[in-house]
Amino acid sequence: MAQAMEKTRSSSAGDKDSDLQTLFYDTLKDIYFAEKHILKALPKMAKAAQASELTEAFETHMEQTEGQVARLEQVFDIIGKAARGKTCDAIIGILDEGKEVMDEYKGSDALDAGLLAAAQAVEHYEISRYGTLKAWAMKLGYNDAAKLLDETLAEEKETDVLLTKIAKSAVNDEGMTKTGKNK
Ligand SMILES: [Fe+2]
Repeated sequence: MAQAMEKTRSSSAGDKDSDLQTLFYDTLKDIYFAEKHILKALPKMAKAAQASELTEAFETHMEQTEGQVARLEQVFDIIGKAARGKTCDAIIGILDEGKEVMDEYKGSDALDAGLLAAAQAVEHYEISRYGTLKAWAMKLGYNDAAKLLDETLAEEKETDVLLTKIAKSAVNDEGMTKTGKNK
């Protein structure tokens, strides 16, 4: 990374574009790794959730995430690069915190609130990444890739809104039962 920045400072406009191209590919690998990790974490979060509407939200997002992985593979294809993941310490940390919540608050009324908070941290990370990737794809002239990234960005935002709704309607107010109804 330091090397790439060094190069940017002293390079011509053409090189700058190729540096952005490298950064775009690197960041795609980061989110590809993240999505695959999220895919592994979601079934555990769905199982741990006490409220059925939270379980459903996690299950729905699991299906969406499979589609998002496939979309990323299409983007790799568009730029002519191999679909590969690169260790993303940020998502590992966020998911580890989620796992901590599941362990420490097992059986507690606060478990779902903790799971919601962890899931929203994941969504916010993804929204930030996809927003950036979409902007870079447009700058690099990959309009089809930008469209695919925007579709995923919209799904992540919708999921964030849904999680906020669940948190407001039940978890943080009165606590939810396994039926998903208050009280
Ligand atoms: Fe995602």
